[in-house]
Amino acid sequence: MSIGAPPARGLLRVLTCGSVDDGKSTLIGRLLHDSQMIMDDTLAAVARDSRKHGTVGEEVDLALLVDGLEAERQQGITIDVAYRFFTTSRRSFIVADCPGHEQYTRNMATGASNSELAIILVDARKGLLTQTRRHAVICSLLGIRHVVLAVNKIDLVGFDQQVFDRIVGEFASFASSLGFQGLVPIPTSGRFGDNVTEFSGNTPWYRGTTLLRHLETATIDQETASGPFRFPVQWVNRPDQDFRGFSGTVAGGSIAVGEDVVVAASGILSQVVRILGPAGDQPSAGSGEAVTLCLADEVDVARGDVLAGAADRPTVADQFAAHLLWMDEEPMLPGRQYMIRLGHSWTTASVTAIKHRVDLADLGQQSATRLTMNEIGVCNLAMAQRLPFDAYAQNRLMGAFILVDRFSNRTAGCGMIAFPLRRATNVHQEHFLVDKPARAAALAQKPMVLWFTGLSGSGKSTVAKLVEQALHQAGRHTYSLDGDNLRHGLNRDLGFTDQDRVENIRRVGEVSRLFVDAGLMVLCSFISPFRAERQMVREMLGADEFIEVFMDTPIEECIRRDPKGLYARALRGEITNFTGVDSPYEAPEKPDLVLDGFASSPQDQASQVLALIERRLADPPAR
Ligand code: ADX
Repeated sequence: MSIGAPPARGLLRVLTCGSVDDGKSTLIGRLLHDSQMIMDDTLAAVARDSRKHGTVGEEVDLALLVDGLEAERQQGITIDVAYRFFTTSRRSFIVADCPGHEQYTRNMATGASNSELAIILVDARKGLLTQTRRHAVICSLLGIRHVVLAVNKIDLVGFDQQVFDRIVGEFASFASSLGFQGLVPIPTSGRFGDNVTEFSGNTPWYRGTTLLRHLETATIDQETASGPFRFPVQWVNRPDQDFRGFSGTVAGGSIAVGEDVVVAASGILSQVVRILGPAGDQPSAGSGEAVTLCLADEVDVARGDVLAGAADRPTVADQFAAHLLWMDEEPMLPGRQYMIRLGHSWTTASVTAIKHRVDLADLGQQSATRLTMNEIGVCNLAMAQRLPFDAYAQNRLMGAFILVDRFSNRTAGCGMIAFPLRRATNVHQEHFLVDKPARAAALAQKPMVLWFTGLSGSGKSTVAKLVEQALHQAGRHTYSLDGDNLRHGLNRDLGFTDQDRVENIRRVGEVSRLFVDAGLMVLCSFISPFRAERQMVREMLGADEFIEVFMDTPIEECIRRDPKGLYARALRGEITNFTGVDSPYEAPEKPDLVLDGFASSPQDQASQVLALIERRLADPPAR
């Protein structure tokens, strides 16, 4: 349905959220129905469907108007963000309806990120639930400043004012630090329509406004419209040699032909000479407009760059503090690398510290070593690259990011930047006169890492020792890094939880890189159970500098060998988080070499590794 000519007050983006069965879909359906936004034939279809699936006897089930998909209807739940458009004489609305199930926090965040007002539903019989609190926190984090607390199903508590007051009081005290500018509580019944579009005779004690009236009249400031100019470049538009423009949507402030702009990351200045919109040249462009800008100079600008007002530039940094909402079933482990999308840029990033986790019951600060699904944490992050951004509180488009799992490609988390961390900004890379090639040449060898991964007892260290001995005898300069040894020194503070193993391999990766830089051939023997971290080490080095050897010894054989007696203890439950027993091992998908630790002798395996090294030296993979 098209929105048509915009009414006087323009468009309001509304998010609805609540727990399962709070009656959200029914309330929205009622809103659409009573504001006469439903065509008669739609209503007839709904009436038919209500008789098929409905849960309200002979009445029309208004939830069916909103729960669009057949599959959802049959399950009786809403499973994705559904957007509805409707218009009254005063305003147009886009309503994002987000499901209330725990695992759908992801959709809730999606809906919240571009909404200006949230309707948070509470079932009057149940009062505030953890879900309600979580949704309020997410709304606040995502910058929603206007909230309606719909105390719904008020008919089922006999339109009792005390129940309403108690819930409102509880919510108001919980939300006092969430920064909502307007909190409007309304007693509603989606099913019977009380206080939705018309005042209800059943709640004479209620002196406020109806839901529709409030939606039509709420004043929402366009924060970014007056802020500094921000233009994240979505693509470089170059149809031929004569034209070069930068296309995107103005994410803050405005720009006019003749004004100066700066490319945020490089600091290069230029001037806007043309602004092209849907109808051709235009003199200026404001927040939310999709345009193409042409600059006076041939400056270097690529997708992901931000053009900004020269006087008020975004921060350019590679580290920042942020609120992070985790949405993936795989927990967030500090040190693990994720893909980050910030504006139109993609790079890698990891959480360097979790400052605290937010306790959703009272907004208190809890200490945490990981974030699991639906948890919110205040974290420090480091990216592989410096990128332009603003604090989320200043500009929602410039300060929001998502983290994507590198293997599943799922959006795993979303974040709101609080402030940049200057740490590395004032620390520059020092370039020495003697470099890696010079050191490697002095040692007359090709520096590299031989990475042995596999279960405890699979024979990693045994083979690594033999390989090192052979290399040494051939005059090579080597060094061995081994899990057991490093855990007595550098990694003394680490145990065997998933997050400690991530940190263990991160440090080993950094140390290996330094040793490769020193010109050495480094032999690393670590269980290194996670694909993500082995991949990270691989990427820290050149393609010709990393060889991954998988010690593919069956766990039964490792248990039989049990050189340190650890399997026996783990199987008796005396050691927890033991790899292969109660902690996972992710076998490599594309190792450079697989050694069958069962079928061949350690000497034979060492020869295979040495042969691979020779082949690599003769025919190195492309860097
Ligand atoms: S890793 O998983 O973080 O890569 P690492 O290779 O450093 O592990 O250390 C593994 C060694 O620690 C094993 O060979 C074993 O001797 C010892 N160890 C002690 N507890 C455990 C455990 N819970 N899981 C695995 N190894 C353990």
